[in-house]
Amino acid sequence: MARSTATSWSRRTQGLFCLLVLQQVMAASPRERQEAPRPEPPAASEESAEADPCRALLYVSVSPLRGRGRPERLAEVNWDFRDCDVRPARAVLFDHDALNVPPKTADKLAIRWSDSLAGAAGRLVTNYSVPRQLPGGWDRDSAASATPEEPEYCFDFRVALLDEHGALISSECLRIRPRWMRQLFESGGDNLALPELMLPGTHNSGSFPREGDDKDSHLVRYLLTQDLNTYEQLVWGVRYLDLRVGHYPQDMGDQQNESHPDHGERFWVNHDLVRVQPLRRVLHDVRIFLDAAVGEVVILDFHRFPVGFGAEDMEDTEAHGELLALIREVLGERLIPNERASALASIKDLHKRGSVLVAYGDRGWQQRERAVLWAAVPQLWGNQQSLEGLVEYLDRQVRAMYRVELHALMAELTPTVFDILLNLERSSLRLMADQVNWNITAHARAGYWFKFANIVAVDFVEGSDLVGAAVEANRWRSEHKRRHNEASRFSVRYCDGSCEQTQSEFIKRPRR
Ligand SMILES: *[C@@H]1O[C@H](CO)[C@@H](O)[C@H](O)[C@H]1NC(C)=O
Ligand SMILES: *[C@@H]1O[C@H](CO)[C@@H](O)[C@H](O)[C@H]1NC(C)=O
Ligand SMILES: *[C@@H]1O[C@H](CO)[C@@H](O)[C@H](O)[C@H]1NC(C)=O
Repeated sequence: MARSTATSWSRRTQGLFCLLVLQQVMAASPRERQEAPRPEPPAASEESAEADPCRALLYVSVSPLRGRGRPERLAEVNWDFRDCDVRPARAVLFDHDALNVPPKTADKLAIRWSDSLAGAAGRLVTNYSVPRQLPGGWDRDSAASATPEEPEYCFDFRVALLDEHGALISSECLRIRPRWMRQLFESGGDNLALPELMLPGTHNSGSFPREGDDKDSHLVRYLLTQDLNTYEQLVWGVRYLDLRVGHYPQDMGDQQNESHPDHGERFWVNHDLVRVQPLRRVLHDVRIFLDAAVGEVVILDFHRFPVGFGAEDMEDTEAHGELLALIREVLGERLIPNERASALASIKDLHKRGSVLVAYGDRGWQQRERAVLWAAVPQLWGNQQSLEGLVEYLDRQVRAMYRVELHALMAELTPTVFDILLNLERSSLRLMADQVNWNITAHARAGYWFKFANIVAVDFVEGSDLVGAAVEANRWRSEHKRRHNEASRFSVRYCDGSCEQTQSEFIKRPRR
């Protein structure tokens, strides 16, 4: 079993200082900062959404916050009733079974937690810790032996909103959506290709704690970007994984012990210069998920190679060749061939060709192995330190990039060196995720994001409802496309490594 001690953490986090420096350099990195072209988005009037008298929203998430004495994984209630006449006054959390007899009043519910709500929109952390075990037989070991059938499952509790008289307004569970793609195409949403879908993603997807790690050490506050492991992220509904890989040709420290689980592991998922865990386990998790959830398609973006690969675009290293061998060994026949027909296929047809699209950030190797490696996914990363700045930056990108090829909105805040050095006690990536995930989810449910955003990648994804938003958005997009027979407007882009060209073609071509 993966085991690591405080010593090995400190060894692995020795590169933190380099990380700080690198982050500043990254702020000027051309690939991530590329300014997107700016075609005019369609007029808003064109898209008048169906008048829904009350677009109420209620969802349950898992708070990423931790603190002394605070239980982990507290459930959080999120609501938005600004559009509605009815105003929720109280939120209660009750056992799932209580739903079988729809209650008229709060006192009929088996209440685990209750609090009054202030405001038509907001969120509230409950005192209930969400269990780690996944519902519906989707735990990794169970899913590997017997494939669960249902497309989604609720955790074993529910949240209800009550009005001031104690009458039930709305109730919702916390759910996993391991099969949302299949569910989408089986219910008629079979006309959308990957670039036309909204795809929930994670940023630095492999930076989650390993078993036994000290999760709260100061350095870890800026190292870990997720709590869910790769398998859990996919079961939750994430379909885009952002990976940065380091190559370590020698065993180091504990790893030299032949009976150590990490012995001989050459490729690691890194957070910049810090290695977090062996890549092989991450790839195995992807494999286990795809074997259990036939019909789902996952994008693996090998975005950067920060350690041990030589200078970018130099092919004087065997590391890329070895990495590719590892990818082929674990994912093999699941790889989606890089062909025009795959790029244009709807997810329904695509999954028959394969279920993992591997995008590769090293242009030289991508071209050399272009039968299986896809061009890097452009990441629209704004290096923002405030919610306002982040939302403004991403808003601009959504309008500019709509319906081009695959691209990822990186919807997380980036700490500065000063944040890291001066605010160790007060600040962390957890806090930053907590500050933005509510609003990012709200944006994903409305306006341009709802209609055009492709990949949206966040930190601590279970603290958002991106998957719920994507499921709604994709249903809407599919119906909209069918109704308007808009094959020409939904132009799927085929990018074989020369995306700049594709984009300028796209600008010139009339959209109607
Ligand atoms: C959570 O809050 C409810 C009341 O709102 C209380 O009855 C319950 O004991 C609390 N549970 C914990 C674990 O603190
Ligand atoms: C190597 O690892 C094994 C199993 O974890 C342990 O029992 C043994 O003491 C280790 N050897 C050394 C030299 O650390
Ligand atoms: C974030 O959400 C809150 C609550 O709805 C809202 O008041 C605020 O304006 C939003 N901020 C941004 C930048 O969207």
